[in-house]
Amino acid sequence: MSRITIKKIQSWKNNKSFCAITAYDFSTAKIIDESGIPIVLVGDSASMVSYGYNTTIPISMDEMLLVTRAVSRAISSALVVGDMPFLSYQASEEEAIKNAGRFLKEGGVSAVKLEGGGVVAKHIDKIVSFGIPVMGHVGLTPQSVNQFSGYSVQGKSVKSAQKILDDARAVEDAGAFSVVLECVPVELAAKITQMLSIPTIGIGSGPYCDGQIQVFHDILGLNKNFTPKHAKVYVNLNKEISSALKRYADDVSKKKFPDKKHSSSYKSNVIDKLQ
Ligand code: KIV
Repeated sequence: MSRITIKKIQSWKNNKSFCAITAYDFSTAKIIDESGIPIVLVGDSASMVSYGYNTTIPISMDEMLLVTRAVSRAISSALVVGDMPFLSYQASEEEAIKNAGRFLKEGGVSAVKLEGGGVVAKHIDKIVSFGIPVMGHVGLTPQSVNQFSGYSVQGKSVKSAQKILDDARAVEDAGAFSVVLECVPVELAAKITQMLSIPTIGIGSGPYCDGQIQVFHDILGLNKNFTPKHAKVYVNLNKEISSALKRYADDVSKKKFPDKKHSSSYKSNVIDKLQ
């Protein structure tokens, strides 16, 4: 089976509301692919959910490539997008091209995502000109958490809303095939979606984006200490997993597991023949 193309995703603009989700390992990526979700982002949120850092800032290219390769090996039909980590694309066009290329050559993805608007437009343009599709990301860009002083909704004033609109336009003009709008007011996301000809993919930006993206761990309730406001929890996997592990430990301590069904025995007597 071949993976979904960016042309197909672009054909959904104004036509079909689609979804995307993050993935960080082979086994869950396989489940995602089999569920038919068309876009899988190997997010730099791996920094927190896979590596245990506090923000997306520390994760390196090599750490991103490690999880990206695992996800790519599992996906046969979704479009796999690799998220470029902090400082892998900002310093120069040359580094941006080289690192984007590594995601394709070593990570097995078909596109990369990077954060920022006008300030990275030249880099997006260069990456795209070398045949690497780019997904933009504007609004709340978590790699700038220190600049934003937290993870709050962006674009509340006219000035900051205008900047986000300009950033989205700059990303489109630079050749991005789609753009993530993170944590902006519903009305601003609707306006940007209407003004751009590329699909917008919202996270915490309301229902009027062309598509939606969520973090795997958020919608499956894997983190018991925190769920962002924008995430709907479809199943409480933290509770389910924790209860299953307790039952396993309990069974072992009571010698209820392993039982006959989960063990194998000789059909004839071998033990008595041992010296
Ligand atoms: O890294 C990430 O999880 C993201 C989001 C847009 C889902 O960038």
